[in-house]
Amino acid sequence: MRLLGIETSCDETAAAIVRRDGDGRGTILANVVRSQLAEHAPYGGVVPELAARAHVGHLDAIIARAAAEAEIGLGDLDGIAATAGPGLIGGVLVGLTTAKALAAALGKPLIGVNHLEAHALTARLTDGIGFPYLLLLVSGGHSQFVLVDGVGAYQRWGTTLDDALGEAFDKVAKLLDLGAPGGPAVERQARAGDPARFRLPRPLLRQEGLDFSFSGLKTAVRLAAEAIAPLTAQDVADICASFQAAVTEIVTVRAAAALARFREARPEAPPILVVAGGVAANQAIGAGLQQVVAQQGARLVVPPIPLCTDNGAMVAWAGAERLALGQSDGFALAARARWPLDSADMRRRDAA
Ligand code: KG4
Ligand code: ZN
Repeated sequence: MRLLGIETSCDETAAAIVRRDGDGRGTILANVVRSQLAEHAPYGGVVPELAARAHVGHLDAIIARAAAEAEIGLGDLDGIAATAGPGLIGGVLVGLTTAKALAAALGKPLIGVNHLEAHALTARLTDGIGFPYLLLLVSGGHSQFVLVDGVGAYQRWGTTLDDALGEAFDKVAKLLDLGAPGGPAVERQARAGDPARFRLPRPLLRQEGLDFSFSGLKTAVRLAAEAIAPLTAQDVADICASFQAAVTEIVTVRAAAALARFREARPEAPPILVVAGGVAANQAIGAGLQQVVAQQGARLVVPPIPLCTDNGAMVAWAGAERLALGQSDGFALAARARWPLDSADMRRRDAA
């Protein structure tokens, strides 16, 4: 089956066409992403109203380009999938409404995809892994550990109590005037810095559990910077290196505990840790996670970075996984700003 996937929940306008074969293997036929970075840059963050307007302005052309690159007509599709939440509601509405119109006009099934589920299932498209596995989702909007037992079978084991990890990178970059996106800028600076110069806090790390907290760390970075202002280039590099060392330690300690819990909960399953979300691009965090899995005899799966950040292929794939199980949605499906992965209606959704 071939599906169109539409992603408009944040600042990427994206459409992709993915094929899922009967044996469960997936192939990306086209994957078109248009970032709105330039539109939002003057404001220092994503402006929801601007994002929604940009999605309206570009989505049709991006869908047409995806179809052209995949060399198929929209009439050849077996289903239309779009992110139905969680995300910025204006943008989600643009993508979901477009998907409904296409599904109605073409007479194809509609699948409303949970954006977090799309991130969670991507490793099955890229690496063909089976269930269950442990997911660490670290993006600009989310920082979660999720037990993935199957399509729709998710248990959230930990989440951030305040800022997401990518958001913390972005805020540190902003306060050091490093520009957007912040994560790559901080990582670049950190390479030339001394990670031991500033002793920054590791919030929550002495406590049990799998939750994160990053806002106190961000404040500690601000205070450290203010105490030595004006900053030299070396100061900036040292602050970035110290910050990255702190978050790497937090994430790896938590990942080790999460993996141990996975092995206890699913003793018969091969232990697999999947990382998704834009922060998966960070090499220091990646190296830390590699050590954790090596120590525990587990496997680390990180999809290619363009598929870790927001894209349409992950939405098309999640739609295909749902459709293969006979699930689709009615046209009454609503766009949602909030939609936790472990909510009751994630288990099974059938066309009304
Ligand atoms: O998944 P994503 O593209 O968008 C969503 O938030 O859904 O993730 C973007 C986030 C941003 O906060 C960005 O700063 C962060 O991922 N990021 C990084 C790196 N590359 C992107 N954070 C740390 N190190 C990186 N190399
Ligand atoms: Zn995302």
